[in-house]
This record gives sequence, structure tokens and C-alpha cells, in this order.
Amino acid sequence: MSDARTLVDTLRSLEAEALEAIAGAPDPDALERARITYLGRKDGRVSGILRGMGALAAEERPLVGQEANRVKQALEAALEAREAELAAGASAAGDRPDLTLPGRGSWRGAVHPVNQVIEEIWQIFRGMGFTRARGPEAETEWYNFVALNTPLDHPAADEQDTLYLGEGLLLRSHTSPVQVRTMERHEPPVRILAPGMVYRRDTYDATHTPAFLQIEGLVVDEGITFVDFKATLAEFARRFWGEDTRVRFRPSFFPFTEPSAEVDVKRVVTHRDGTRAESDWIEIMGAGMVDPNVLENVGYDPERFTGFAFGMGPARIAALKYGISDIRIFFENDVRFLGQFAVGRGA
Ligand code: PHE
Repeated sequence: MSDARTLVDTLRSLEAEALEAIAGAPDPDALERARITYLGRKDGRVSGILRGMGALAAEERPLVGQEANRVKQALEAALEAREAELAAGASAAGDRPDLTLPGRGSWRGAVHPVNQVIEEIWQIFRGMGFTRARGPEAETEWYNFVALNTPLDHPAADEQDTLYLGEGLLLRSHTSPVQVRTMERHEPPVRILAPGMVYRRDTYDATHTPAFLQIEGLVVDEGITFVDFKATLAEFARRFWGEDTRVRFRPSFFPFTEPSAEVDVKRVVTHRDGTRAESDWIEIMGAGMVDPNVLENVGYDPERFTGFAFGMGPARIAALKYGISDIRIFFENDVRFLGQFAVGRGA
């Protein structure tokens, strides 16, 4: 066997030995020692062989040189891989909780107070057999006004009050278009509750925001009377504010209801000292019997079907419930405010 073959064999057994030492290095120091043992410039065993090549015949040198380079590269790759492994292990250990740190309270997300009120209102109407409905926030003049018996020269349709998107398109100014969309698609009986966002050209102040939530309600069937209308809304008010709540229906006007009413409640409030007193009358919604023209517009026979509709502002109701005088606070997303409505909040 030539000297060259002997050197190549030695290189290969060195390689096997070194790979084992590298893979088994328990820590970065051991790894560094393995590197020096095999690849160290001065006394490394692979480097030693390269130095021994001087004794070889010129034509034998390339064979050994090539093999030595291959082994060097294989060992370098193995060193790098093991180094990464050890580093990953070390950082995993570093992620262990530091038990000397002071504790940090947990923060649980919570439902926005206005959404909590919507949910409470929904549960009451659900108990009375209502289902949920929804419609688009970008509407046409037909659904927002015309089908609701509101001519386009009505002040509500004016650009002063309504945000137009383009020719005949607008951001709905109330949730009442959901009445029309629901009746178009379903035969009576209809009993729906439709919460959603509405938009108006209002200045932002303590009682107005240009975008706000509304909850629409609609009931249509054969034989629905003014008594059903009053009884349903009075029952809602008593379930929401308590048995001793008084309800008042004040004559009003909406183009899509006839007769129309504004519904007020007078609540019994308990003061801190335990004494109870009645609040002032407070308006909670607009409502009325569905105008026959609206029924006709959706293809219902107004001789056969009657119904009632109502619309309320849950932010207003939430403000009443929590004694808040400026509804802008519901929109400002200050967690110090919102956190007070969190149910089961962590410490
Ligand atoms: N859409 C009316 C408003 O926004 C409220 C309403 C709804 C009135 C349904 C009557 C019936 O003011």
C-alpha cells in the first residue's frame, strides 16, 4: 500500500472518531476541545496529516489533499451543527420562568358595555320568539328611504343629514331598511331583532356620534294589533329595568309607521342609603304600527297583515343603565373605563 493510501485511511478513521466526539460534546467547552484536537492549526490531528504530505511524491499529493479537505469540511459542518444544537438547548433553559421576578396580573379581554347591553336586549326578545336579522351598512335610497314611505325630498334624505357614497348609494341612517329586506325575503309571520351600525351627519358631542349602533325590531302577522305593540314593548322594558318600571307611549311621527309613538320609561332607582325613588321619564325608542304603504312596497297584503316596528339606541340605554352622561366615552377605548365592565377580570 502506498503512503498516500495509508494517509487516506488514517484520515477516514480520524473523521469517524472526530464526528463521534463532536456529536457527543456535552457543552460548548467540550466542543471547542474537540475542534482543537482535530482541526487545531498547530497540533490538530487532521492538520498534522496535511503537514505530513510534504513527504509524499508530488503525484500522490492531490489525492491526499482532496480527502483531507473533504474531512475538514465535514468536521466543520458537524461542529457548526452541534454548536447550534447546544445554543438552542441553552436558550430553552433560559426561557424557564424566573421565580425571583415580581408577579404580573393577568388581563382578560371583555365584551364592550354597549355590546353587553345589546346581548341583554337580544336575550329578552329571543325569549319572546324573535330571531336575528341583519342588512348591509351601505344601502340604496330605495331601502333606506323610498320603500320606507319616505320621499327623497324628506329632510332626513337631505345631504345635511345623510352620508352619501355616490349616486343613489348611502351609509344607512337607521336600521329600518332591514325591515324591508327581511319582508322581501320572507312571508309572514316575521319577528326579528336587527342590531347594527348606522351613520348620520351629526356633530360629535356628549349625546351624538356620527356612527352609532341601533337595534331594529319588527313583528308582522295576521291580527297584530296596537295592544300587541304596547304589551310587547312594555314587557321588554319591565324585563330590562325591573317589574316596577312604568312605560309611556307618546304620539310621534315616522313616515314608515302609523300611528307612531315615542316610548318613555320611568324607572325605580335605589339610592346608596337604600331609599327608592322614581327617575324622570326617559325616551328609549321610536316605534309604531307598520304603515300599510311599507307592507305594500314589499308585496305583503296590507288588508291581511299588520305589524309593529321599533328602533332603539343601545349606547343611550347603556348610558342610562350605567349613569354615563357623555356617550363619547363608549367610543374612546380607554381601558381604564372599559375594564370596569369586564366580567370575571383577573387581578
Ligand atoms: N328608524 C327610526 C329612527 O332611526 C326609529 C324607528 C324604527 C321608528 C322603527 C319607528 C319604527 O329614528
